[in-house]
Amino acid sequence: MDIIPYVRHYKIRALFAVLVTLPIGMMDTAIPWALKKYIDSLNSGMNDLKFAAIMPILIIVFSLLQSVFTYLATYLNAWVGAKISNGLKYDLFKKLMRFDADFFDKNVSGTIQARFNIDVDTACTGFLNHLKMFSTRIFNSLSLIVALFVISWQLAIVAVIVLLMALYPLTTIRKRIADIANASVYSGAAISTHYLETFSGNRVVTSYNLYSYQLKKFIDALAYAFKLNLKMTQRSGILSPIMHLVIGIGIAVIIWCGSYLITHDYLTIGGFAAFVTSVIMLYQPIKSIGNDMNAVQISVMAIERVFTLLRETPKITNKTHAKQISKIKKDIEYRDVSFEYIKDRPVLKNVNLKINVGETVAFVGNSGGGKTTVVSLLSRFYDVTSGKIMIDGTDIRNIDLDSLRDKIAIVFQDNFLFKGSIRDNILLGNENATKEEINQAVKSACLDEFISSLDKGLDTQIGERGVLLSGGQKQRVAIARAFIKNAPIVVLDEATSALDNKSEAVVQRAIDNLMKDRTVLVIAHRLSTVRNADKIVVVNYGEIAEIGTHDELIGKKDSIYASLYNTQLTTKVQESLLQKA
Ligand SMILES: Nc1ncnc2c1ncn2[C@@H]1O[C@H](COP(=O)(O)OP(=O)(O)O)[C@@H](O)[C@H]1O
Ligand SMILES: [Mg+2]
Repeated sequence: MDIIPYVRHYKIRALFAVLVTLPIGMMDTAIPWALKKYIDSLNSGMNDLKFAAIMPILIIVFSLLQSVFTYLATYLNAWVGAKISNGLKYDLFKKLMRFDADFFDKNVSGTIQARFNIDVDTACTGFLNHLKMFSTRIFNSLSLIVALFVISWQLAIVAVIVLLMALYPLTTIRKRIADIANASVYSGAAISTHYLETFSGNRVVTSYNLYSYQLKKFIDALAYAFKLNLKMTQRSGILSPIMHLVIGIGIAVIIWCGSYLITHDYLTIGGFAAFVTSVIMLYQPIKSIGNDMNAVQISVMAIERVFTLLRETPKITNKTHAKQISKIKKDIEYRDVSFEYIKDRPVLKNVNLKINVGETVAFVGNSGGGKTTVVSLLSRFYDVTSGKIMIDGTDIRNIDLDSLRDKIAIVFQDNFLFKGSIRDNILLGNENATKEEINQAVKSACLDEFISSLDKGLDTQIGERGVLLSGGQKQRVAIARAFIKNAPIVVLDEATSALDNKSEAVVQRAIDNLMKDRTVLVIAHRLSTVRNADKIVVVNYGEIAEIGTHDELIGKKDSIYASLYNTQLTTKVQESLLQKA
């Protein structure tokens, strides 16, 4: 049981929560006992009316005690359950944050969310609730069974046999529901992935009028979940009626035998009444135990899923004795780097490339050719399939991950901003930045004018993912964030390509500032950036087709770069002509 370590911190309370159920369970036997005494005392000619008088009081006292204990058990359970659930969520979150890009490529958001929101809670509350229920039931059943034997061992034997017969079908439950319960978890995840996507993509949904399309997909997902749900009921729902029937027959047999025992003076009337009451109390919970077992099975499976995820190790991890680097002194080198996202589908083939410190290297080439892949390998979003990437001669797989990533600031085409203020988002680059550093970053990112136009300045809230900012503003906030990180290596992946010409110009100024005095890997469509680069790398269908400066490549015969440059140049000229027109 993997969950034990999580309970251990709260073992006293958890133990107490279980122990409290002991009196709750055992106190039930007071009822048949009192009943027996009561009826027998009435029956024996009213000699012992004292008991009959205090019995109502006893009932109240017992009920009161039971209520107090039940409340206590519920409270303790909720407390321990919530603590364990938080502990699990904490570990899961910590673990998932460190998972590599590959994991998130392959797992849909709904599945990951389900692990947190549904599985952990199901696992913890389910586990504890059922622990509480079972411990109460077990103490309760054991004491009732003892009571039965005390009252009449002959009848008790019959009662226990019936009990065992009624419980037998439970042994098959796991087999019956396991596959469906798993499938329904995935169908639940599919539903939440669908609505997460629909709502975060609401602009696309609106602009393409995808309402009925998205709705149709949602209905299908719901229908599938419905089908599974019913299938589950078909398979497990039959248990309770069977048990109900067996128990009915059992009680009939007991009454039949009981009449015989009473008429032959083996049993008093009070004893018989007490026996029947105990038997009913013993059987009552068993009728619903089929459903309870379903729930237990579901929570056990949730526990398994959570711990499977917890046991998984990210593919990209720190080696023991990984090297810390303070800065890059000489160069970055890609040596014979090949890479595939999906097995046997190579995306990069034998990439060899040297980038000297302080150089700006521009990557150009066909879309889907592998430019983004080349630069993502440097931050170890993915690890190379073969070959190696070195910084100052050290394979980056031997460099401490945090230390490596600290040295690289990345600006993508679409940068993720977090809910909060502009300041919060900039500080993500370096939470200890001073006021001057922030101001400097704001200035270098060409944000100063925009920020001084805002009432709240840097403290302006930007909404989830920065929705309250324009594309160019978002981009500059991201650049300011990269600035403040002050990393020696800067990676720019089409940082201006989502922008219109006007905002591109100002973002480009910010980028030019960011590139100063650093080693830069830039994927850009902007000709001036490419032109001024120290090296231009043409990535074509996963291979480096050409490397050289602008002048070298443009003059080469049959150069891919030259033809790219010329087509882009003509479109640029056309664009600017159009704008002027
Ligand atoms: N996460 C991923 N999983 C699988 N294939 C991917 C992934 N990312 C990119 N690819 C594939 O790798 C190839 C190179 O992509 P990319 O490096 O993004 O190209 P570029 O940036 O030059 O447009 C493309 O064929 C793309 O479909
Ligand atoms: Mg790309």
